[in-house]
Amino acid sequence: MSAARRIFVVGGSGYLGQAVCSSALSKGWEVLSLSRHGAPTKDTVHDISNNPVSNSVKWIRGDALKPETFEQHLAGCSAVVHSVGIILETNYKKLVNIGYNTSASHEAATFERANRDTALSVARAARNIQGLNTIVYMSAADVMPILNPRYISTKREVEDDLLAHKDQMRPVVLRPGLIYSSARPLTLAAAAGVNVFNALYHRSPLGCVLKHTPLAKAASPAIHRDVVARAIINAIDDSQVSGILTTPDIERIGNAHN
Ligand SMILES: NC(=O)c1ccc[n+]([C@@H]2O[C@H](COP(=O)([O-])OP(=O)(O)OC[C@H]3O[C@@H](n4cnc5c(N)ncnc54)[C@H](OP(=O)(O)O)[C@@H]3O)[C@@H](O)[C@H]2O)c1
Repeated sequence: MSAARRIFVVGGSGYLGQAVCSSALSKGWEVLSLSRHGAPTKDTVHDISNNPVSNSVKWIRGDALKPETFEQHLAGCSAVVHSVGIILETNYKKLVNIGYNTSASHEAATFERANRDTALSVARAARNIQGLNTIVYMSAADVMPILNPRYISTKREVEDDLLAHKDQMRPVVLRPGLIYSSARPLTLAAAAGVNVFNALYHRSPLGCVLKHTPLAKAASPAIHRDVVARAIINAIDDSQVSGILTTPDIERIGNAHN
């Protein structure tokens, strides 16, 4: 087992965040999670609420955009993970029932607020904390041609900020494509489609046909949520890991030391 740590997961109650919390707990680490609802809500269709380890997470209710709601909890943490973001500015998660509670009144989510400003706010607060030397940011690969380009451009703005401050805090930036797991059943079908397209693109004449079209960037494999979560935890534990991690890097790091 690696040295005991305390980590702060922003969005630990979310789809990926819950797997990150589980993975950290399985290493014997102490885990704090920040989200606006605190613990996962009853309509959050994920698994940690039925999992004994969920009692071990300290669920903090606060807002990443408001440092006064969370900064006192950063003391003693050695790493912060940012796992907050939206892919659409409408409330699509409610529509497809993938774990989003609208009962609390929040400001309308924009790419700038949700993907960029929450991360910049957390990063600024974290830089003031002695001993907090690693920040993990869940970015994304630019694989969905139909999405608003601000989904990716706001992520890239955060990446630039974290890399510019790398002397103050080690940045680990993950750029996966689709993350699938049975916790979101729709992602299993989507991943199957993505992986078939990826195989055809790389191993058939389809690749030549589509090479110069917007669809080319969709030729990127989906990745399992637990692999991403383990990659985050392994990266925190390995001070040599730094900078941008693409899907092959995430696969390699997530499948190492199991
Ligand atoms: N899912 C994918 O396939 C995929 C692929 C590539 C990249 N990513 C990236 O991975 C990250 C996590 O995605 P996900 O699908 O796990 O998202 P998710 O299920 O929507 O989880 C988001 C989490 O962030 C919390 N949150 C939202 N706004 C907040 C705020 N202002 N302050 C504090 N907490 C806040 C949410 O809880 P509350 O609502 O209670 O605040 C929730 O815990 C995102 O950055 C996403 O872009 C995801």
